[in-house]
Amino acid sequence: MQMAELGKTGERISEVGLGTWMLSTNEAKEVEALRTGLDAGINFVDTAEMYGTERIVGRAVSGRENIFVATKVSPTHFHYDDVIRACDASLARLGVKSIDLYQLHWPNRNVPISETMRAMEKLVDDGKIRHIGVSNFSLEELKEAQDALKKNEIVSNQVEYSLVVRDAERDLLAYCREQHMSIIAYSPLAHGGLFEPRYAKLVELLSRIGKRHGKTPAQVAINWLICKGIVVPIPKASKKEHVAEIAGAAGWRLGGDELKTINDFLSGYRKRPISKLVKPALNMHPAITGMLTWLGGLRNRKKD
Ligand SMILES: NC(=O)c1ccc[n+]([C@@H]2O[C@H](COP(=O)([O-])OP(=O)(O)OC[C@H]3O[C@@H](n4cnc5c(N)ncnc54)[C@H](OP(=O)(O)O)[C@@H]3O)[C@@H](O)[C@H]2O)c1
Repeated sequence: MQMAELGKTGERISEVGLGTWMLSTNEAKEVEALRTGLDAGINFVDTAEMYGTERIVGRAVSGRENIFVATKVSPTHFHYDDVIRACDASLARLGVKSIDLYQLHWPNRNVPISETMRAMEKLVDDGKIRHIGVSNFSLEELKEAQDALKKNEIVSNQVEYSLVVRDAERDLLAYCREQHMSIIAYSPLAHGGLFEPRYAKLVELLSRIGKRHGKTPAQVAINWLICKGIVVPIPKASKKEHVAEIAGAAGWRLGGDELKTINDFLSGYRKRPISKLVKPALNMHPAITGMLTWLGGLRNRKKD
């Protein structure tokens, strides 16, 4: 497995990671699927307290060395004491001594970012987390969050990024490149939607290009992100064959002419409008993130 550096931390993570949102409740099957990825050399796994999958990740990584575990604190827990409590609970569910990357899941305008970051830095000082990241932060929010840190740097911003959702290219990609910060690309297969009939022509193109490399359309779609240089995609798969396919998306590169062909095709392609509606809704309505946290909490509590 080819490795990438997380930001400028010197940490080596696999150039593709594994997401865990919406894993089913069949823990044994999910643990097995994640271990298939770890066996193939993937060492980077992403979860969140909101997903209710930290325990599954904990079981999958248990007894393994050099696995890089990322999780997230929910925006409803951004007050100082809540961040500390949420981290302790995540540590217990994951069964690890420290979290490699702890991310603020969504911005929360109702809590001063300085208060949240003070707690994040305390967690670093106490050795409970190793690196600080954010998720779904706009460029402006990212800069504000950086300014709120006294001793540490933000090493990554996790945002939605795929062939069909390219909002990150507006300004984040260039800024993160300049700052040597990683972009962790979530929903790199458009939440599985990439294979819907509306993208048939795009998939046809990916398939044609993939054949030259002995790769599938999903592998080409993920590799297109890896080729950005600072982007680490984290596709999710609960089927073992999908996990194996994801591992095969790393360790090779699309050629310059192939990237150009794909980019030319995309420039004439209408972007999926959903993110424009959903993101502001999630940002503006803490009730929505509150509800998601509550649902994740129910799942977390089941086995406590
Ligand atoms: N920070 C955030 O706010 C945020 C938001 C959303 C997601 N995320 C993170 O990003 C991860 C990935 O995003 P996502 O789960 O939304 O979507 P995704 O990775 O784009 O797509 C997942 C879907 O693609 C399918 N799939 C996987 N490999 C495939 C392959 N080789 N061929 C065909 N289909 C394949 C999976 O099927 P099977 O499961 O049946 O194998 C699943 O239905 C999440 O799990 C989560 O960790 C973060």
